[in-house]
Amino acid sequence: MDLKAHIRTIPDFPKPGILFYDISTLLAHAEAWRETVERLADAVRAYRPDVLAAIESRGFIFAAPVAYKLGIGFTMVRKVGKLPGAVVSHAYDLEYGSDTLQVAEGLVPAGSRVVLIDDLLATGGTAQASVQLLRKVGAEVAGAVFLIELMGLKGRARLDVPMTTLLGYE
Ligand code: PRP
Ligand code: MG
Repeated sequence: MDLKAHIRTIPDFPKPGILFYDISTLLAHAEAWRETVERLADAVRAYRPDVLAAIESRGFIFAAPVAYKLGIGFTMVRKVGKLPGAVVSHAYDLEYGSDTLQVAEGLVPAGSRVVLIDDLLATGGTAQASVQLLRKVGAEVAGAVFLIELMGLKGRARLDVPMTTLLGYE
């Protein structure tokens, strides 16, 4: 099945000049959605994870069925201030300013093989910050899996873990 046929593009969103790859149409199509989950699960399985880590918020959509299918749990990598209780944080630089990601303390056992999952790899800033955050809690990041890769933004070069993407766009 051609999954790209189910991803619509929206010009000038969220800013003029940006072409937005919208997964809403893929999620709404039962067969395309099922096929996406199957292919993501195969890609994740190849890295032999103990647990998944999902990046807020669109990453959650994909992590949940993949973790269910593989019979493993998943941990939320969240934007700052969303998680209750003790958290571990990692601040990272953006083009203008900085941002912080957090995970709950004590949920990912030290030494466990974690696979990171998100809908889209653009500059790679979010994913690489997530990798560093997971390393802070002692995880071994065995791989990263994305549905979409915007290849022109060269996010792949920023990630220092093995990675798999299903759909590449120039
Ligand atoms: C988008 C996308 C990735 C990230 C990729 O998320 O879902 O998580 O940007 O960009 P990068 O590779 O340049 O870091 P966004 O922050 O828009 O939020 P959302 O998932 O909550 O919609
Ligand atoms: Mg996101």
